[in-house]
Amino acid sequence: MYLTREEERMLAGEYGYAAQKAMEILVALGKVYGAERMIEIKSAQVSGVSYKNIGDEGLEFLLELAKDGRVRVPTTLNPCGMDLERWRELGVPEDFAEKQVKVIEAYLKLGIKATLTCTPYLAGNLPKFGEHIAWSESSAVIYANSVIGARTNREGGPSALAAAIAGRTPLYGLHLDENRIPTVEVSAPDLTREYEYAVLGYLVGRIVGDGTPLFRGLKLTSPDQLKALGAGLACAGGVALFHVEGVTPEAIRNRRMKAEEKIEVTGSELEEEAAKLNDESIEPDLIFIGCPHSSIEQITAFYSLLRERPVAKKTWIFASRAVRDQAREIGLLDKLKKLGVEIICDTCPIVAPIREMGVKSIATNSAKGAYFSRNLNKLKVKFKPLEELVEEAVR
Ligand code: F3S
Repeated sequence: MYLTREEERMLAGEYGYAAQKAMEILVALGKVYGAERMIEIKSAQVSGVSYKNIGDEGLEFLLELAKDGRVRVPTTLNPCGMDLERWRELGVPEDFAEKQVKVIEAYLKLGIKATLTCTPYLAGNLPKFGEHIAWSESSAVIYANSVIGARTNREGGPSALAAAIAGRTPLYGLHLDENRIPTVEVSAPDLTREYEYAVLGYLVGRIVGDGTPLFRGLKLTSPDQLKALGAGLACAGGVALFHVEGVTPEAIRNRRMKAEEKIEVTGSELEEEAAKLNDESIEPDLIFIGCPHSSIEQITAFYSLLRERPVAKKTWIFASRAVRDQAREIGLLDKLKKLGVEIICDTCPIVAPIREMGVKSIATNSAKGAYFSRNLNKLKVKFKPLEELVEEAVR
């Protein structure tokens, strides 16, 4: 693999321990994937932030890097295990919080912004079309590639962090034109709700694995629908890029885009898939939206559906601080609070120690949230469209 003089010096340790470690990781990755050289990146987004996921071993690794390391490009963080301001009131155990703070401090020392969101593109880290980046949260990766047209592989936490420190990543995979063409065409019925797009993504993700689907016939109108579709695809499969005919930027630029393999998804298949994620009989301890983190439009839609009715169950909206602040500015935060709905920042119900916080069952409109709540956190799950979720909350 060709390395520039500067890259060789980093690898030799002339820029310190962290830069050397970072280059070692990147060179190893580049060799595995046959990269000819490195490419400079414009931004990084790092997952592996919750102490629940990285544990003491991850914390040690970060502390080592933070001794002399510093990121070279704007870098943001995925959600951590707790709302940094409200963890006590939300029931996060003290010993967990202590470790979590140490993790965040290490990242801050590395020069990373504690945005703590899986929607960095709604919180100041918005790449441009065609830019090379190194992101690691799967729902953000697929959004960046597909909806924005930026270029990133589906990095792991350590490789995204290495890329941030080195300011570059090996040139392979989705950084190259030839790997961004569709592998399968998907025709699907006309859908409207985000929930339906989440199910479509979840079903197609399972079918295509790590392929690149090209959707035909979808009349998506909002970025939130694309966000839900992408999160479903990335969660059920290894999909990191999709195209929607006439909608996503690369499909608009290349109208002749096509693939040999074709599949058709029907409305009844979508209903069956949704039913698999739903346990109708449960009484949820927590109702949540915001997986991926909510946009201001999603929060507004939730509020409108409440029609001034207070909630009768614990109801949380997960969002970045940037979006929460927008909600505050337009008075939405207060209005929701009066109805008993909380906006929670910095974290999400999947990476928080949710069982220790007394939650054993949830209801959500997110296919990804439903899938991981059940399979990772071992919670009982109700999976419903937004309208029904709101009715569940006020009942
Ligand atoms: Fe974001 Fe957590 Fe869902 S990181 S995509 S809210 S699992």
